[in-house]
Amino acid sequence: MKILVVGSGGREHALAWKLAQSPKATRISCAPGNGGTRLVAENIPISDHDVAKLADFALQSGIDLTVVGPEVPLSLGLVDAFESKGLRVFGPTRKAAELESSKIFAKQFMARHKIPTGRFKTADSADKARAVLQSGELGWPVVLKADGLAAGKGVIIAGTPAEAEAAVRAILVERQFGSAGDHLLIEEFLRGRETSFIVISDGTQVLPLVTTMDHKAAYDGGKGPNTGGMGTISPSPHVDRALFAQVMSTIVLPTVTRMKEEGRTYKGALYCGLMLTAEGPKVLEYNCRFGDPETQPQMLRLESDLVDILNAAIDGNVLADEVRWNAKAAGCVILASGGYPGPYEKGRLIRGLETAAAKPGIAVFHAGTQFENGAYRTSGGRVLGVCAAGRTLKDAMDRIYAAASEIEFDGAHYRSDIGAAAEPV
Ligand code: AMP
Ligand code: GLY
Repeated sequence: MKILVVGSGGREHALAWKLAQSPKATRISCAPGNGGTRLVAENIPISDHDVAKLADFALQSGIDLTVVGPEVPLSLGLVDAFESKGLRVFGPTRKAAELESSKIFAKQFMARHKIPTGRFKTADSADKARAVLQSGELGWPVVLKADGLAAGKGVIIAGTPAEAEAAVRAILVERQFGSAGDHLLIEEFLRGRETSFIVISDGTQVLPLVTTMDHKAAYDGGKGPNTGGMGTISPSPHVDRALFAQVMSTIVLPTVTRMKEEGRTYKGALYCGLMLTAEGPKVLEYNCRFGDPETQPQMLRLESDLVDILNAAIDGNVLADEVRWNAKAAGCVILASGGYPGPYEKGRLIRGLETAAAKPGIAVFHAGTQFENGAYRTSGGRVLGVCAAGRTLKDAMDRIYAAASEIEFDGAHYRSDIGAAAEPV
């Protein structure tokens, strides 16, 4: 079976690595891939946003199965385009992916179906937004969001009316987030612990992936700006059986069932970003994809064949009971470029990769790397994810940190406390 992985991050390297272990996989391609995916796949120089070229490539190369990593190609209709050409593809259609690409659609969907989430209002003009804010009906602070994919930006938490007014101007008047600023979402601020819950849906049934805990802040102790994720551990210390069952019955299953009823059957990975409030778990946002860096430790714990799982999801017969995970603890520590998540330099020579990767039990998943003239160089903010699974979390993290210390590039930084705190920070 010839498989195409679309994307270029650590998540895609981990997926390609796991797919490559399947006896059913005869060839794996990754578009565009990174310096690490070339070790398990053939990199294809096509942008992950270029749906038409990707479909042509898949047709010409006889690709039997495509799996899409990032949200943008899904929101551009990659799955619809592939399916219309008879290509097999894992991921939600454009209409199903609106759960992520339109925050307003997602909020209204949850409201229609009583899926727990914070209270909200929408506004398509600055005056309407001001009226909502002046009424104070959502309390303070209040959260303002541009309606669309704004590359993780476009979410402003305003503590005062003056901050809210500045956000209204930035989004609706100055259009700092482009067309994502046609509509504004104004949300109640939810308090609690943030956690994620990731599943694979076949349209009707759901396979929950092993739980993970992300570490979003850039620096140790939860300090510094938010990032795409500086490290993960699995299982999450914060999702016990009772919470797991509650999230499945009040959020995940109703989401999948109601999407199908609305004619937007959701097939693919579904990432629920949750706030564990005093009133129970509530949805902050949906992502229509696997997590990054959540996927990396999940792939280290998956024992079943990922090709079988993706095919079952596409065919509508995912059987969660048949999927096996190991009972180990796994972790991932992200090595980032100096300056990340702010501006950073690229092109720095990376040393020590082979030594680190050769250590027992270590998997180094590449994200922002390129391989050129026999050397690896940095090409992104999050550069590498050093991962391991162990009998205990300490065992996994000790191995990871020993391997990470072998890797060097100018400006490299990583958190030294992934998995160390009982509290997510
Ligand atoms: P989003 O892209 O919608 O997940 O928002 C990005 C981040 O902003 C989330 O991961 C939360 O940390 C925070 N956030 C978003 N919405 C809310 C909310 N209603 N209450 C509290 N925090 C929020
Ligand atoms: N690690 C956060 C995300 O994948 O959205």
